[in-house]
Amino acid sequence: MKLKIATLAGDGIGPEVTHEAQNILTAVAEAGGHEFVFTEALIGGVAITAHGTPLPQATIDICLDSDAVLLGAVGDNKFNALSPDKRPEAGLLQIRQVLGGFANLRPSVAYPALSENSPLRPEVTKGADILFVRELLGGLYFGQPRWWNKESGEAINTMRYTKSEVVRVARVAFELAQKRRKKLTSVDKANVLEVSQLWRATVDELKADYPDVTVEHQLVDSMAMHLMNVPRNFDVVLTENLFGDILSDESGIITGSLGMLPSATIGGTVNLYEPVHGSAPDIAGQGKANPLGAILTAAMVLRHSANLEQEAKAIEAAVVKVLDAGHRTADIARGNTSANVTTQQMGKLVHSALAESIDRQQSLHAV
Ligand code: IPM
Ligand code: MN
Repeated sequence: MKLKIATLAGDGIGPEVTHEAQNILTAVAEAGGHEFVFTEALIGGVAITAHGTPLPQATIDICLDSDAVLLGAVGDNKFNALSPDKRPEAGLLQIRQVLGGFANLRPSVAYPALSENSPLRPEVTKGADILFVRELLGGLYFGQPRWWNKESGEAINTMRYTKSEVVRVARVAFELAQKRRKKLTSVDKANVLEVSQLWRATVDELKADYPDVTVEHQLVDSMAMHLMNVPRNFDVVLTENLFGDILSDESGIITGSLGMLPSATIGGTVNLYEPVHGSAPDIAGQGKANPLGAILTAAMVLRHSANLEQEAKAIEAAVVKVLDAGHRTADIARGNTSANVTTQQMGKLVHSALAESIDRQQSLHAV
């Protein structure tokens, strides 16, 4: 198959990790006789520096002409003094809006090889396998009005959802739950917020269409606690935009590092893929970044934009194999292991593990 992928490497460690993810996708294309065409474009701080805006029109055009967008990270302390609408992050929020994907899938899995990395005890994280479905185009991030009046010392943001916005993201969560352990936890603050009451009532209304899925509601504050207490109790977790932002970072604790978490945003014109971690300017350009979040994001590209489920699984298995063999970048080097590979070496190791499994499958087919 042919797949046009726009790569928006962005700021900080974005370029290093995206490079490794792209290598893995190229390996899959070569092995399977697919044609993946990559086109680079600017976003975030690098785009501000080159063109004075965090999301140039040329980038939008390239993304809309692609089958998938693979993004690295945005954010640069250099621009901290700018207002939110001019900062690198604004480019990310704009491209999310332009592409229209409203369901942001953020898996959080406890890897046995990393059980010593989490500050949580291994018996707590054991077996955790959560899929967050974060609504990505509504809530406080985009609600109007929004402003900061420096003279009067007052600022406002608006949390707003329409029923149809809740319905469309909830249906994605229900359908994913049907393919997994059939449990859906919907997160809200319905004891305080009308928006959350709408959210809860809408999810309850949809239950009838998915009789095989068990639904529970959790208030966001107690959810933050349960998530650390009994992570294995959760399967698919549905949240509005800001709650999902917060809880998905928290769930990095389950895996042991934010550097391990991938994400995919589906439902719009073109799917958007980005690791959950940020641009980590403090370690950028030193080969210290963990490319596994980006590589696992590449697996999600294959799963959700190319229907190559076997290949996606093969990448995920290669990551497990490399971790089991004890290879660690700095962020996952805790406990008894110290950092023993660079970003690039980690990418190469996953590549070799993947190549071995592809060879094995091909020889099996040949028999
Ligand atoms: C994320 C990030 C973004 C968000 C920022 C960089 C705008 O934290 O993808 O989780 O808040 O959505
Ligand atoms: Mn975040």
